[in-house]
Amino acid sequence: MKLSIAIDGPAGAGKSTVARAVAARLGLTYLDTGAMYRAITLAGLRRGTDIHDAEALEALTKIVELDIKSDSIGQNIIFMDGENVTEDIRLPIVNRNVSFVARCPQVRKILVDKQRQIGSRGGMVMDGRDIGTIVMPSAEYKFFLNASLTERSRRRLAELSAKGEEFELEQMMQEIAARDKIDSEREVAPLRPAEDAIYLDTTLMTIDAVVDAIVRAVRGEE
Ligand code: CDP
Repeated sequence: MKLSIAIDGPAGAGKSTVARAVAARLGLTYLDTGAMYRAITLAGLRRGTDIHDAEALEALTKIVELDIKSDSIGQNIIFMDGENVTEDIRLPIVNRNVSFVARCPQVRKILVDKQRQIGSRGGMVMDGRDIGTIVMPSAEYKFFLNASLTERSRRRLAELSAKGEEFELEQMMQEIAARDKIDSEREVAPLRPAEDAIYLDTTLMTIDAVVDAIVRAVRGEE
């Protein structure tokens, strides 16, 4: 069985770009677990589901059909009930609501089961908040990426600016800090490094340097 790699960390730490590049370099398959929580959030917002009602969220998660494919560069394409929602799950309204959905234990159970099933054959690079601790605790390699709040907010602004959406740094910092707080303080699967994770502060690192560090660690070249 091929090895698997868990990459966790808070918003804007560079996880998804790094995880996708690491997967490509090592010939592994990338899964963006955050996209799954985002797709359920989008479904709930569209249907008017009360995102603070656990039972309603559970019912929603059971009926929404999620399908994840990879494109030619290993980027995840997310389908919700057959519709390609890859762009829509990054909308600011989803950013503001996703952590409320993701703290619901029933939602987590359904999505974690799905993630474990996808990962059961090995050969995965998964990124999220609880991959090293809950989803793939037996992953051969675990990394926890972090960066200062200002740097993470700047990176998010740059991503959005590339799509023509402009935000104030202050507003982004508040939004990310609010999400970090809910993700870290929730009762089920809070954001924290696994005991055996390698911790990387990426504040002063380029994406390429982070990818290199991970690939070297996995190849035993450290
Ligand atoms: O890309 P970004 O770092 O903004 O976040 P994401 O990975 O797309 O995840 C969005 C949200 O989903 C997080 O803020 C968490 O609330 C939740 N999430 C989670 O609870 N567990 C995961 N394994 C992945 C994401």
